Amino acid sequence: MSEKIAVVGAGLIGRAWAIVFARAGFKVAIWDAVPQALQSCQQLLRENVGDLARHGLIAESVEVVLERIKPAASLAEALKDAALVQENVKETVEVKREIFAEMDRLAAPGTILTSSTSWIPTSEFTEHLPGRERILVAHPVNPPYLVPLVELAPAPWTSKATVERARDIYTRAGQSPVLLKKEITGFLLNRIQGAVLNEALNLYENGYASSEDLDKVLKDGLGLRWSFMGPFETIDLNAPEGVLDYAKRYGHTYRDVAKTQPPNEWKAETLAAIEKERRAVLGAGALGERARWRDNRLMGLVAHKRKQPT
Ligand SMILES: NC(=O)c1ccc[n+]([C@@H]2O[C@H](COP(=O)([O-])OP(=O)(O)OC[C@H]3O[C@@H](n4cnc5c(N)ncnc54)[C@H](O)[C@@H]3O)[C@@H](O)[C@H]2O)c1
Repeated sequence: MSEKIAVVGAGLIGRAWAIVFARAGFKVAIWDAVPQALQSCQQLLRENVGDLARHGLIAESVEVVLERIKPAASLAEALKDAALVQENVKETVEVKREIFAEMDRLAAPGTILTSSTSWIPTSEFTEHLPGRERILVAHPVNPPYLVPLVELAPAPWTSKATVERARDIYTRAGQSPVLLKKEITGFLLNRIQGAVLNEALNLYENGYASSEDLDKVLKDGLGLRWSFMGPFETIDLNAPEGVLDYAKRYGHTYRDVAKTQPPNEWKAETLAAIEKERRAVLGAGALGERARWRDNRLMGLVAHKRKQPT
């Protein structure tokens, strides 16, 4: 019999996790504190799985995948017999503390509890819990059924066995787990994304380029390469003799430039100007439609990458 996963919170990320696990053959129980959220998630799940089917990204029919996802009437019902619980509720330390205390009370001892939190280290919401050794952050990228990275960020007291079991489950679900060796706010991906945003905001604020051109630097420049290699492999290949050769040629320039990259203060007037430029290109009412377009482009890219050698 297939293992059961519980998804707690049926918003954007909870729904996407339900698809990841159901697509890989797991049974999924999904629960939300707001009954309306649980109801509207059915239609949204159908649309998303339908899109995946059109891009050849599910091996079975839409109905077979959706059939594995069952709404639960209570948190206790969702957690019953689950191998792993993926929490996706509001992003505040208080709410995470409350829901993890409740889940630790309700879940059987062998159940792993994970959080999708984007920024909060596991230790900030698990310290006093009796079952804290079975809890860790498993941070996805939106939407996880297209972007496979999942950041496993355990607390110092999370057991090694829990981490290994979680890694095995995410791998079998088709994800690409990475492990943080110690805790840090924002984990790896959001810290790197923050560094890029910081510099883009600095360059914009100081009048070096429009927001449109700064976006182009990524989408027509760095982003193309980044979809199949990271910064270290990039510098390894961008000098004839690898990393040390690259550092000898360009290291001093990067060091000098880094001295001119202060933390950006996210000033209200800078953000308002970027918002104005964005709204001129894309009306506020069209954001949802454009997000769907983005996901469809991502599906095309994922389908392409699956056909290529790694
Ligand atoms: N949106 C992203 O791009 C993204 C990416 C990675 C991780 N995350 C993380 O995922 C989590 C969820 O984010 P989201 O974007 O899906 O938010 P969302 O607002 O779309 O969904 C949150 C859901 O949780 C429900 N909820 C709130 N409090 C609850 C509670 N106490 N018990 C049960 N359900 C409750 C809400 O009714 C809602 O349906 C957050 O921790 C967020 O940081 C978000």
